[in-house]
Amino acid sequence: MPINLKDSAAIEKMRIAGKLAAEVLEMIEPFVKKGVNTAELDRICHDYIVNTQNAIPAPLNYGKTTTRAGFPNATCISVNEVICHGIPSKTKTLKSGDIVNIDVTVIKDGYHGDTSKMYIVDKALSFNERLVVVAQECLYKGIEVAKPGNYLSNIASKIAKHARNSGYSVVEDYCGHGIGTVFHEEPQVLHYPEAYNNLKNDIQLVEGMTFTIEPMINAGKKTTKLLSDQWTVVTRDRSNSAQWEHTILITDTGCEVLTKRNDETF
Ligand code: MF3
Ligand code: CO
Ligand code: CO
Repeated sequence: MPINLKDSAAIEKMRIAGKLAAEVLEMIEPFVKKGVNTAELDRICHDYIVNTQNAIPAPLNYGKTTTRAGFPNATCISVNEVICHGIPSKTKTLKSGDIVNIDVTVIKDGYHGDTSKMYIVDKALSFNERLVVVAQECLYKGIEVAKPGNYLSNIASKIAKHARNSGYSVVEDYCGHGIGTVFHEEPQVLHYPEAYNNLKNDIQLVEGMTFTIEPMINAGKKTTKLLSDQWTVVTRDRSNSAQWEHTILITDTGCEVLTKRNDETF
């Protein structure tokens, strides 16, 4: 199946969408405090995306099938043992020590920007802080080897090595993805190298590819469980999980992080 390479006009639009998604994560930061509920955080993001950015929140109504309703909110907010796709809720009130992933995807001028980061509420517990830091390092180590000539398996190897050396596991049931005018397009970006033992799954990186890297790192076992709402994914052992995500563009010499925030230097 073909991977859609982006020309310079598409890349310019991806840069804009990526920047907007990053700005949502920066905007929401001061609101991630103990006592706030995740529906309120989602509402603030939704209003900012729609009214200030004049963009579209891609998750809203996404993924409707015959057996599952579309995602009900503008953002995914995943707390503690929730790995990903947490549904914002009025009854999910943040407390001191919680670790929170907010995952933002905006559509601007037809193109998607997809990014997430972890927030620690109030005072970090040292074991949570370490998980969050290692998960971010996993993303950065993957980004370091995202360059033409390398393979998706090189990214996965770096991520999994760091996670496992730190005593953590890498989620295998969810992955990164190509992105452009379509939210989730080819290729699948798996974050563990065993996925590429069958070489036909592996893909060599080429200038013009745009995809996400979004490792989910568990403090305990790698196995996941889908809750009855058909969206929320939790660790089966209920250990905590951390995820960071960027949308990147493969350039002639390396990659450009399209969803870079101001606190980051690439
Ligand atoms: N933003 C998620 C990702 O990184 C996808 C969320 S799909 C939703 O791919 F429907 F759950 F919002
Ligand atoms: Co995302
Ligand atoms: Co994504």
